[in-house]
Formats: sequence, C-alpha cells, structure tokens
Amino acid sequence: MNKSKPTTIVIFGASGDLTRRKLIPALYQLVLEGLLAKGTRIVGFARREKSHEQFRVEIEEALVEFARSKPNAGAAELKLFSSSCYYQTGSYDNSKSFHDLKELLEKIDEEQGIPSDRGNRLFYLATPPTVFSGVIAMLGQTGHIADPNDEKRWTRVIIEKPFGRDLETACALNKSILSILDERQVYRIDHYLGKETVQNIMAFRFGNSIFEPLWNRRYVSHVHITVAEAVCVEGRGSYYDNSGALRDMVQNHMLQLLALVAMEPPASFAPNAVRDEKVKLLSAIPPIKLNEVNECSIRGQYAAGTIDGKLIPDYLRENGVHPDSVTETFVALKLHVDNWRWAGVPFYLRTGKALEERLTEVNIEFRQPPLTLFSHIKNGDDIGRSRMKPNMLSLRVQPNEGIRLSIGMKVPGPKMILEPEDLEFCYADVFGVESPGAYERLILDAILGDTTLFIRQDEVEAAWRLVNGVLDGWASEEVPHIHLYRAGTWGPYAADEFITNDIKKSKAL
Ligand code: BG6
Repeated sequence: MNKSKPTTIVIFGASGDLTRRKLIPALYQLVLEGLLAKGTRIVGFARREKSHEQFRVEIEEALVEFARSKPNAGAAELKLFSSSCYYQTGSYDNSKSFHDLKELLEKIDEEQGIPSDRGNRLFYLATPPTVFSGVIAMLGQTGHIADPNDEKRWTRVIIEKPFGRDLETACALNKSILSILDERQVYRIDHYLGKETVQNIMAFRFGNSIFEPLWNRRYVSHVHITVAEAVCVEGRGSYYDNSGALRDMVQNHMLQLLALVAMEPPASFAPNAVRDEKVKLLSAIPPIKLNEVNECSIRGQYAAGTIDGKLIPDYLRENGVHPDSVTETFVALKLHVDNWRWAGVPFYLRTGKALEERLTEVNIEFRQPPLTLFSHIKNGDDIGRSRMKPNMLSLRVQPNEGIRLSIGMKVPGPKMILEPEDLEFCYADVFGVESPGAYERLILDAILGDTTLFIRQDEVEAAWRLVNGVLDGWASEEVPHIHLYRAGTWGPYAADEFITNDIKKSKAL
C-alpha cells in the first residue's frame, strides 16, 4: 500500500559507493514496486562538478549493475527513474552551496505543483562522519529544516554510522545534531535492522509461543552470534584502520542482534516500546573491566591467504593501512546479561573480515537433558551411552536465510541409538521471493515516519559504554595481544580455543 507523501530525497555523498551500490538501487526498487508517491524526486549533492545529465547517466549505470530487479540499459523504466534525479555540486562547509541547493529544491517543488510551504525533505547523510555536524549546521543556517511541529510538511535526516568513535565523541555529535534538529527528525540508521531475517528474530520470538518459555537461563546454556565476512577492507583501508572490527561491526550491528535476541517482549510494536526494551537489555550488560579484557576478548588481524582461489595480501599491505597497524580485523567477545532472565548465560560474539565464508548466524544452545539414557553415533560408530550433542537453534541471517533446530532422533534399527538431525526452514524455499534489501525497508520507513527500526541516541550510548570498556582494556596493554590468522580461515585459533574452553568451564559449574 502506498501511503507515502511526495518527498524530495537529498543524498549528501552522492559520488560515494554507498549511494551507487545501495541507496539508488533501493530507491529504484521502491519506485518500481509503486511504494513511493508520484512526485518523489532525488537530488544528489557532492563536491564533484557534474550536470544533472551526467548524474543521470551514472545512475543508470549503477542500476544496470546493482539493482535488485536488473533493468536493461536504456529500458523505459530506467529512463523514467533517472529523469526524476537531479544533481547539485557543492561543498559541505560552504553556505552558498546550501542556498543553491535550496533554490533547486524549491524549483523542483514548483515543477511538481507543490506549494512552497509544503515540500517534504528527506536528507540522507551518506558522507564521511567528519562532516555530519557541519552539514546539519549548514542545513539549519540556510533554512532547510521545517519546524518539527509543522503539520503541513516535514524534514527528516538519516545519518549513517559511525555515530562517533567512542562514548564521548558520540555524545558530542548528538549534542551538535540536537542543537539543530528535534529527536523526531533524526533517523540513525543501522542497516542490519532493515534485513528481513533480523526482523524475523522478533517475529519468531514474539509471534510464537513455543520457544519463549525456554528463552532463559534455565534452558539456554549459551548464545553465540557470528558475523563472518569473506571480504577484506574493499578500498576503505584508511577508514577501517581507524575503526577496526569492534567499532565497525560490534558497536552497532552485533549489539543490535544481541539486543533483539535477548530483550524482553515489548508491550507493543510501537517505536519507543521496542527501543526501550533494547536499551534496557544493553544497559544490563556490564562493561568489560580493564583487568578482564584478556579473559573476555580475543582480537586478530589477517595475514596473507586465499579466499575462493584469490590471493589476499596481509592486512598491513592494504592501501590506507598503517604498516605497523594493530587494528583488529577480527574480534571475539564474551558478554553477560545481568538480568533475571539471563544471569550466568554467556553470550559469545565473533566477527571478522577475510574469513572463510560470509555467514551471519545466531546460535542458541540449550542445556543437556538431565540424564544420559541413550547411546549415540559418532563418525558412523556406536560409541555407547554418552552425552548427545545439545539441542541447538540457529537463526540464519545471511546467506541462505532460515531457521534450523537440531534435535536427537532415533536411528532406525533394533538398538536405541540417537543421532542429531536438523529440522530446517529455508526462506527461499517457503516464500519463493527474494527478500527486499535492507535499505529499501529503512528508506521507506523514514519516508513514512516510522522510527521503530532506527537507533535512538540512548541505544548508541549504551552500546558505546560496552565497547569503550574493551577499547580501554586494549589500550592499557603494554604489548597489544593481537593474534594473526590466515585470510580464508575462520579466524585465530586462539578464539576457538577461548570459546570452547569457556563453554566447557561454564558447563562444569
Ligand atoms: C558495514 C561495515 O556497516 O557493514 C562493513 O562498515 C561491513 O565493514 C558491512 O562489510 C557488512 O554488511 P552486510 O550487509 O554485507 O553484512
């Protein structure tokens, strides 16, 4: 159902990769599916000198390469879409550029027959974080921001991560944003929340009654969240080297996954009801202390190896990476949630680049049955009465999205022997349609004014509080404990050892 109002979407950072690969394809798909109101227009803003025509050609090329419903070059729908796109050359710290932008937006409103006090604006900051505050300040100074209480038109601003590089800078960034905008106008995006399978974590937990009674310390032995990437730094060496896996993936995507897996059921699906529960959950995780950092974290950095037959150089030889860098491209963490539901259940988080394959999965391992009654098979042999593999529920976020439950089953025959087997649900087989991309969902939500899947500032701060503990612990080490791993493997051996031993220890308690 198309409930969106005509909007002009301005993308700052229009020459960047995010715009080309994700934002433009998402907008194109929304238009194709009739989810955006007629009269929706897109304006790219960037430093490079370019005409509207040149921008349109670039858009068409990007769509031929990256759109979900791939058009042929020159296709009518492609031309129609690109004709709704405009370009404004400008610099992020020059008020004249923002006045020129305003003139262009007013001209577009006029062409659409939209009265001058009715134009809705969605500003998307797909820029380096260093200019976030400056761009918002310029928007404020040059009269681009509508009064948040104005019922005839709205202004919303989507801000890409990173929101600061630690707690202090995140608070400072927020202060400067909220000196110009009202919180209702700020949409902090975490694209993981737009993924269908991430939303399905909530549907699975709160739309079904069978698992919720088991979802606690009495039945769950531990939770393991993996976000493995087979890609390396992909031309973003200088950004990544300043960031590392902890800031790039854990502070945002992984802690969001953890929050959805472990939070209490919200009283409704209203934006603040869901976000309140996530904040409560994140605040119940005690930050890792300086003297605990070695027991609770392992960091790694990739060295040369092969992925899919392709030779990968050492991380230290990537463009933009400092040759002596100790930035982590892999991190494994152990966290606890100190609340009634989860006390004593370890949560292991693990993420890295240049790993063997791309895989995002949440594994919930249940406790063993109290008695060992049956024999079971290992490597084809009956190994007698021994502990079965515990039941495991796996929520697969990507790729091959789905859900798997491993249970012990009787092997046919005269003996009572059990073997673990999987009950599986695969999205693609059941629904037979490709899931919408994360940016499609989130941009549409921003246009519709639904903030449920966007991050509130207190979530950002709660997540930084946790990450800061680890960063401080690492910074206090005289010699950084960084484990090298070969590209194309599953990360440092030390991480496997750390998690396996820790699980053994917690089971022995
Ligand atoms: C981004 C990170 O936020 O997420 C990247 O900056 C990472 O480093 C990407 O590759 C992963 O997203 P996805 O959707 O490919 O899992």
